Amino acid sequence: MRLDKFLAHHLGISRTIVNKELKAKKVTVDGEIIKSGAYQLSPEQLVEYDGYEIIPITQNRYFMLNKPQGYVCSTDDPDHPTILYFIDEPMSEKLHAAGRLDLDTTGLVLLTDDGQWSHRITSPKHHCEKVYQVTVEHPLTDNLIEIFHNGIQLKSEKTLTKPAKLTIIDEYHAELTISEGRYHQVKRMFAAVNNHVTALHRKQIGNIILDVPEGEYRPLTEDEIKSFCK
Ligand code: URA
Repeated sequence: MRLDKFLAHHLGISRTIVNKELKAKKVTVDGEIIKSGAYQLSPEQLVEYDGYEIIPITQNRYFMLNKPQGYVCSTDDPDHPTILYFIDEPMSEKLHAAGRLDLDTTGLVLLTDDGQWSHRITSPKHHCEKVYQVTVEHPLTDNLIEIFHNGIQLKSEKTLTKPAKLTIIDEYHAELTISEGRYHQVKRMFAAVNNHVTALHRKQIGNIILDVPEGEYRPLTEDEIKSFCK
């Protein structure tokens, strides 16, 4: 691959800027300053920019993020900051969320550049379970467990929601496990039983359990990635 193409890709900058940086002698290949963008790079060579090694992106990437309130899961939004604010990785704009959370929902977001993998998480065919911690405005009653299990008729939807597992923690707190991802599903399910969700936090997707503090992220382990490859 040409050196200027490699640098533009890995640093997320234009070829014009790359060529300025090359002329400014900021790039070395195996320790030698290279000023030509046309230089042909082979895979085993070490490229450094400003003294920092550039790790080639050769494989798909997978991360978990603990999303705070006030950030959108789309990667481009004119009105709100996006979750990419937290992701300090080269070419982070190539990543997308495998299942979005609302602006005011907190918790587990999986990020990847592997479209097939995220499809397994979001497609209704795969019935991937997501676990939410829910805080509500009005007291919860035990009859909701059966109502949520039997399925709820949401406004403007043709089919009932799939069986959901509600575990009541106390009067105002519950855990809800759903295997679909309809638009604002959790909030709409509680609205359908005349309640109102005041706080929503996702703690688990499939076997992947959120374990980083708010605003932080980490790469997924091999086992976590593989858990969605069945
Ligand atoms: N259900 C909702 O209503 N909002 C979310 O962010 C996720 C699930």
